[in-house]
Amino acid sequence: MQNTEIGRDIEKAAYWLRRGKLVAIPTETVYGLAANALNPDAVLGIFEAKNRPAFDPLIVHIGDRHAITQWVEEVPVSAQILADAFWPGPLTLLLPKRSEIIPDLVTSGLPHVGLRMPSHPLALALLRALPFPLAAPSANPFGYISPTTARHVQDQLGEKVAYILDGGACEVGVESTIVGFDEQGAVVVHRLGGIAVEDIEACVGRVKIRLNQSDNPAAPGMLTSHYAPRKPLYLNNIEDNISLYQGKKIGLMTLKKRSDLPANVLQIPLSETGLAHDCARNLFAAMRTLDAADIDLILAETLPDTGLGRAVNDRLRRAAAK
Ligand code: TXA
Ligand code: MG
Repeated sequence: MQNTEIGRDIEKAAYWLRRGKLVAIPTETVYGLAANALNPDAVLGIFEAKNRPAFDPLIVHIGDRHAITQWVEEVPVSAQILADAFWPGPLTLLLPKRSEIIPDLVTSGLPHVGLRMPSHPLALALLRALPFPLAAPSANPFGYISPTTARHVQDQLGEKVAYILDGGACEVGVESTIVGFDEQGAVVVHRLGGIAVEDIEACVGRVKIRLNQSDNPAAPGMLTSHYAPRKPLYLNNIEDNISLYQGKKIGLMTLKKRSDLPANVLQIPLSETGLAHDCARNLFAAMRTLDAADIDLILAETLPDTGLGRAVNDRLRRAAAK
């Protein structure tokens, strides 16, 4: 496979994006596969490179949170409160798009656009150097684990991008939280992610959580089986599973390092102290390492269902779903 240039040159990234090419960009959550969001030909390249079905819409990344109305018709009060509180950062807001500006391809024909202002300094600098926003899904082949380093992108989509902007390992490690607003103005969480539900509720009160658990392609994104390694992954009942699979080579993602494991178990601790934030940051890289290691199956334990632990558990359950 041909290697694409990896570097920290914002001008170079901007150069290719202005020409309608794809560039991988770092964000605080995961790496994105970016193109000019206002150019349908460029956006089409994203779907082709990822092998992504056209019914799965793309998030549009912006560099200025005071310019939301450039892209959307209306900003509900609670959306403004959330943007003020969490932008730049790992929060995506679904808002009624200006159809004359945002191409249908970006939103898969839906009337809303997912907008996000990332906080990674290189992403922000790039967005501010460009006269257009960037459509960017996670930079992985559809259904596989999201990339959290430039090297992950190189390994999987390397030959399909003009340049990989290297911003180091992603700080948050799971994708943005996606929030929409229903007819009654209620706040609805559609995807758990880098901003905890508790933190959103602290700003706007109780929210509804409507995660799509189905395999129904009419409901965009969030298919039950997603973020998945190729090896089988089983959750919880660690001790039982270790006995059950004692003849196999086992990969184990632990919350904290354990010293009581048999020799057939290769462990990757996700944190030193059990913090959900650390687990989120290390989760996808650990899944990749185990997927590539000489093991037969992966075991993992879920976290307490609070804060970022909920997003980590969501990714683990989708990775385990077959
Ligand atoms: O953290 C993130 O959000 C990363 C970084 C690169 O920004 N991006 C990301 O994009 O996770 P992607 O495409 O892998 O996941 C975006 C999800 C999809 O499941 C998609 O269905 C949903 O967002 N989405 C995007 N636009 C939407 C819309 N207009 N209506 C409903 N869902 C939408
Ligand atoms: Mg993705």
